[in-house]
Amino acid sequence: MGLEVINLSVKVRDKLVLKNVSLTVDYGTIHAVMGPNGSGKSSLAYAIMGREGYEVVSGDIRLDGESILGLETFERALKGIYIGMQDPPVVPGVRLSTLIIAALNKRSGEVELTKIRNPRVVRDMNVVASGIGLNIELLQREVNVGFSGGERKRSELLQAILLEPKIAILDEPDSGLDIDGIKKVAEYIGDLRNRGKAVMLITHYARLLQYVKPDVVTVLLDGEVIARGDSKLAFLVEERGYNEVRKMYKGA
Ligand SMILES: Nc1ncnc2c1ncn2[C@@H]1O[C@H](COP(=O)(O)OP(=O)(O)OP(=O)(O)O)[C@@H](O)[C@H]1O
Ligand SMILES: [Mg+2]
Repeated sequence: MGLEVINLSVKVRDKLVLKNVSLTVDYGTIHAVMGPNGSGKSSLAYAIMGREGYEVVSGDIRLDGESILGLETFERALKGIYIGMQDPPVVPGVRLSTLIIAALNKRSGEVELTKIRNPRVVRDMNVVASGIGLNIELLQREVNVGFSGGERKRSELLQAILLEPKIAILDEPDSGLDIDGIKKVAEYIGDLRNRGKAVMLITHYARLLQYVKPDVVTVLLDGEVIARGDSKLAFLVEERGYNEVRKMYKGA
């Protein structure tokens, strides 16, 4: 059980950006999705979240065996799917701490979205923010307004941890991070797995995967799955490049 993508084809405007893609992300595992620029990694994440403009033309997406295709994005989020976006949007007028509290309240059925019901939430926010190297002052700032690239990435990870999703889709959580940041982020991603979450980890490079070993690696090229394997595949990609890997796997 977990997340299943089954023979999924997705169109953006008139372009087919995913072609017959299948993959499974089980609970307690990390599934890395690699691929060059424009191969469809973010489109896959958006299609799973039901983002407008990413039209599923065939196939299915299932959470715990049930199709989620008919659900709105917010309903998918309430069911426990979280996406840490590649380029997180700025949300002027909303504090980061308020966003997190409102999301937690919405899920628990609380109507007063900004009410702090449990003081532990505030403590947890500070502890986790410090742990991942995010200055806790940023919790009081408007979401991503003036955040540096690395701060945005850390802010997305903070939410992935605090919102306790079942499925965490992290789109290049390592981009723009310094080496200490990468190690720290890797540690927390490993922790998500240890706590039984299903993690889809989108990344270009094997660098992050040195610090957090994925259970499964899927490689996309031009919207198609060209290879699947264990963590060794990530290093093969780094060593040989995507086209070479495609030839190797096609020949296999
Ligand atoms: N909203 C959109 N409008 C137009 N084209 C899009 C849109 N979203 C995706 N595409 C196109 O779909 C293809 C796949 O894009 P996608 O963002 O999924 O790639 P990616 O693998 O995430 O790349 P990167 O590594 O650069 O983040 C690209 O050719 C891109 O231009
Ligand atoms: Mg992308």
